[in-house]
Amino acid sequence: MPVYSQKDTPLLAAMRKYVTDETMPYHTPGHKLGKGMHPRLESLLGRDTLALDLALMPDLDDLHEPHGPIKAAQDLAAELYGADHSFFVVNGTTGGIYAMILTIAGPGDKIIVPRNAHRSIIGGIILSGAVPVFMNPEVDLDLGLTMGVTPGTVEEAIRQHPDAKGVLVINPTYYGVATDLKQIVEIAHSRNMPVVVDEAHGPHLHFGAQLPLQALDAGADICAQSTHKIIGAMTQCSMVHCREGRINVPRLKAMLQLVQSTSPNYILMASLDVARMQMATEGCRLINRAVELAEWVRAEINQIPGLYCFGREKIGNPGVFDFDPTKVTVTVKDLGLNGAEAERILRYKFNIQAELSDMYNVLFLITLGDGEREARTLVEALRGMAANHTREGTLPAATDIYSTVSYPIMPEQVFSPRQALFGHTRKIPFRESAGKICAEIITFYPPGIPILCPGERISQDMIEHCLSLQAAGLHISGPEDYTMETVKVVE
Ligand SMILES: Cc1ncc(COP(=O)(O)O)c(C=O)c1O
Repeated sequence: MPVYSQKDTPLLAAMRKYVTDETMPYHTPGHKLGKGMHPRLESLLGRDTLALDLALMPDLDDLHEPHGPIKAAQDLAAELYGADHSFFVVNGTTGGIYAMILTIAGPGDKIIVPRNAHRSIIGGIILSGAVPVFMNPEVDLDLGLTMGVTPGTVEEAIRQHPDAKGVLVINPTYYGVATDLKQIVEIAHSRNMPVVVDEAHGPHLHFGAQLPLQALDAGADICAQSTHKIIGAMTQCSMVHCREGRINVPRLKAMLQLVQSTSPNYILMASLDVARMQMATEGCRLINRAVELAEWVRAEINQIPGLYCFGREKIGNPGVFDFDPTKVTVTVKDLGLNGAEAERILRYKFNIQAELSDMYNVLFLITLGDGEREARTLVEALRGMAANHTREGTLPAATDIYSTVSYPIMPEQVFSPRQALFGHTRKIPFRESAGKICAEIITFYPPGIPILCPGERISQDMIEHCLSLQAAGLHISGPEDYTMETVKVVE
């Protein structure tokens, strides 16, 4: 195989060569370099792009058994991120997380995970048949957000479940909060347990001077990063990076095959190749500029009456060891608005689209795609909203809500989520469900920690807790019946 440098993009180069050779295609995809595609899309995407929509062939390599340009591209990614092996994933970090969980845990095996895990983690647990051991993350009730899981919480979970197959943590959270991953790794490794990291929001951490440690730099064994979310790859494109030792690499490869198409899109894979090259050649400059811009935006927002944008001052609070400032969370509750209302105002009055909103906050991402104009536009829009769209009164404070209702203890786990999902289920009145086994997730925002997960026994305490949170106006997520009149249970 040729020797490549980080400036090269071996997969993209192989694809371009195929096109410039003017090879006559008698293979998939059926549109044949765009010639057979309907003009409605062909005119939008252009023949040059469509000509690169190619298929598995010896010149272009096979994602599932790479020996050529895909292998070279993945090896360059591994070198850049400090991994022993890197893998391209074309169905997002969701696919990466499925494969990571399937690698370390099988039916009946325990895996230690945060209770507020992203649905892809629950999905991986369902697919594998593993049994989750849940850890509660820390909560910041002023912001109405969950923070990281502390090393102490991880240590306790491992002490109680020394037979677990691994620990999975999130680094950083959607809102940019990082826990003390290095310490968590030390604790887990001292019990010979692998550390698996959902690093969907951290593909840029390695390149910023003031950013939290990326998982591999903290000593973790394996992570999945959404290259598409934060840096230059196209939507759906992620990478899994791993270190040898505690991870069975052949099994990981088999699991990545299991959860991905045999016909991965080459343009998507090439975007991973190019995103890696971009980070290698300009990553530090681009990411540090994004951090600077975001810090400027944060400082400006904090001058606007009624708005608050949390930052490094939270470091040292429970579950907050470090912080990624490119996640700009604007707390709008003092305007008398909830996050969804603020998101709508920004979209329809100011033509600004946020990443997401929750009860008290709206989240904006500042990335390498932003410049001074975007930074100023965001600040001006927020200033306009705060000046013209406030409402009398304030929202109920999460601190008040949670001080008046008692938090039920962790429910009894009767079945694994997989058993609950595939079991016979029926809907019954929620108020009469005490003693039954829940077949769905019930979560209230804030703070977004599930009260019940599939396979857990419902208690009278939990019913009362849910009803009081509902009465307090908190947003419910998960169950089919959002009114909480009925709940799905296992028969
Ligand atoms: C914390 C977390 N993990 C995993 C995922 C899944 O990532 P992807 O959308 O790349 O599949 C997301 C997506 O939002 C996420 O927020």
